Amino acid sequence: MLSIDLRGKRALVAGVADDSGYGFAIAKALATAGATVCVGTWPPALNIFLNLLERGKLDESRRLANGSLLTFEKIYPLDAAYDTLADAPDEIRGNKRYKEVGDFSVAGLAARLMTDFGDRPLDVVVHSLANGPEVKNALLDTSRAGYLAAVSVSAYSLVALVGRLGPLMRPGGSFLSLTYMASERVVPGYGGGMSSAKAALESDTRTLAYEAGRRYGVRVNTISAGPLASRAASAIGKIERMVEYYAANAPLPEVLTSWEVGTTAAFLASPLGSGITGTTIYVDKGYHSMGMAVAGGDGL
Ligand SMILES: NC(=O)c1ccc[n+]([C@@H]2O[C@H](COP(=O)([O-])OP(=O)(O)OC[C@H]3O[C@@H](n4cnc5c(N)ncnc54)[C@H](O)[C@@H]3O)[C@@H](O)[C@H]2O)c1
Repeated sequence: MLSIDLRGKRALVAGVADDSGYGFAIAKALATAGATVCVGTWPPALNIFLNLLERGKLDESRRLANGSLLTFEKIYPLDAAYDTLADAPDEIRGNKRYKEVGDFSVAGLAARLMTDFGDRPLDVVVHSLANGPEVKNALLDTSRAGYLAAVSVSAYSLVALVGRLGPLMRPGGSFLSLTYMASERVVPGYGGGMSSAKAALESDTRTLAYEAGRRYGVRVNTISAGPLASRAASAIGKIERMVEYYAANAPLPEVLTSWEVGTTAAFLASPLGSGITGTTIYVDKGYHSMGMAVAGGDGL
């Protein structure tokens, strides 16, 4: 039988702070396939996440097919805007949500992983994070600072993760990120430079696949996912309308679930995906292939 077997593998999923997003579903799918999972959580969301876990509020969504609960081997603080602690400005380092958590930079994450698990502790790294402070602004109305912040947190952060965690990966390791089709088609409302950030993320996926493939023997892919009413997406507004629009117009009319993205991620991370790198994989019920909206009944 050909099955996804990640037993003995360790994954780090960066960008999990509740149970509503793609990162959580991916963590769950990786664990279902047998991997141990660590997560990286944005410091401003860390306490709330730990509280939700402690108070059992996520138990229902943590339930795995075998009845056990998804557990995180470690929950690391991570602000992917900073490569080293020294890069974080004083007002961030002194902020009450940051000052108690230790080194929350990408370099800090790499150092903690090595301290906790040794020199080559990782097989799978998932980048499931994005932030665009001006996402509600049209690109035309986006400030330079807002644009650069979107690209820094949502795209450069992948470069930083592959650069710093590549040397920690065991042979056959796999990096994965999440992108959105607004990188290549116009999606009104996906503003603030987020469309530019996703275009950079997809282009970087190809270049990083080549460079990190040759240097570290790892793969780098990105999943272009359909809309999901996660916490981040709800901040954009209109997410319910987008979900409905996809259901009305995609080749497959059922609403996309985060689990479908999770299982694709597990496949890509597994040895079954060993020939796939540098690729954008659509998990969107086929919406990306449509050239025209279905207007009032299509006779099918
Ligand atoms: N929800 C959608 O419709 C959709 C569609 C396609 C792609 N995606 C992508 O999926 C990924 C996950 O997003 P999601 O929608 O599942 O929402 P989510 O809220 O579950 O994930 C986003 C995470 O990013 C974290 N984050 C924000 N700024 C950060 C920083 N500076 N450092 C570290 N973490 C930070 C947030 O705390 C949050 O946990 C993102 O890349 C997003 O663009 C989402």
